[in-house]
Amino acid sequence: MANTRAEAFAPATVANLGVGFDILGMAVEGSGDVISVERRAEPDSIIISIIGDNGKLPIEPDKNVATIAANALLKAVQADFGVAIRLKKGLPLASGLGSSSASSVAAAVAVNALLGEPFKREELLPFTLEGEAAVSGYHADNVAPCLLGGITLTNGTEIEAIRKLPIPENLYLALVSPDVAVPTADARAVLPQEISLKIMVHQTGAVAELVDALYRGDVERLAKAMESDKVVEPARAHLIPQIEEVRFVAKRGGAMAVVISGAGPTLCAICDDADVAKQVTMSMKAIYDNVNIDCRIRSGKVLKDGAQVLKAE
Ligand code: HSE
Repeated sequence: MANTRAEAFAPATVANLGVGFDILGMAVEGSGDVISVERRAEPDSIIISIIGDNGKLPIEPDKNVATIAANALLKAVQADFGVAIRLKKGLPLASGLGSSSASSVAAAVAVNALLGEPFKREELLPFTLEGEAAVSGYHADNVAPCLLGGITLTNGTEIEAIRKLPIPENLYLALVSPDVAVPTADARAVLPQEISLKIMVHQTGAVAELVDALYRGDVERLAKAMESDKVVEPARAHLIPQIEEVRFVAKRGGAMAVVISGAGPTLCAICDDADVAKQVTMSMKAIYDNVNIDCRIRSGKVLKDGAQVLKAE
């Protein structure tokens, strides 16, 4: 049944899981983006308001990821109307928490709900990718876990290329997001274009170890595999303030690994206990407090379900 308005939530995501550049990602419990959409007679979608971006996001329909995703979906069903979008940003911009993916996903899920759910959840992937591609390139390592929840392997951008992987029961995450923007495009520009055969063997071995550890529910081996990246993190580490100090205190506090979340600057510590994860977030925050860099923290588990429809009426 078609509706006149709908609202959807989309969570934060951690892409790459260290060694799985552009192919692995996971959804994280806690705040995310909320988008409400309202049917409008005119065929194009527009942004009515954005809260929580400090005026930084574009409102032009061809530049905002939410309108791009919404319009891609509406075009696919040959709708002769558009939507008016209200966006509440719960995620900091350019922080490595999949902020643009969350807005694209929340928009697609809300518009799908408005239309009475003509598409299954996974069928929304192409529309969310349209939005994501506008800001950070055509890869699904954030949008897939954001849309579907859990830990995902995205070996391509087709729906068939997405696999949900098992979530270890005792996997807890501690995240710190220093208030420095690292745009994904800049963080990709510093990456090597070629790697040696020796490094390739190491990286593929580490990804295989990681997937095996997920299937066995072994958080310690998972953490070790995640942190063993020899290609992406070494090239990006200089973009993340105090990365080594944060890693040091996190591990001293019981974390098993610290990796860059997505393109950074958020850092994600891997823990096997909820209290340890909470304590580790506080220790990581103290490092940034010491150097007067504001930061946001969160700790929790992998979010099993992805984006949620909050309202459709
Ligand atoms: N895999 C991406 C990167 C994540 O690390 O550049 C951001 O979309």
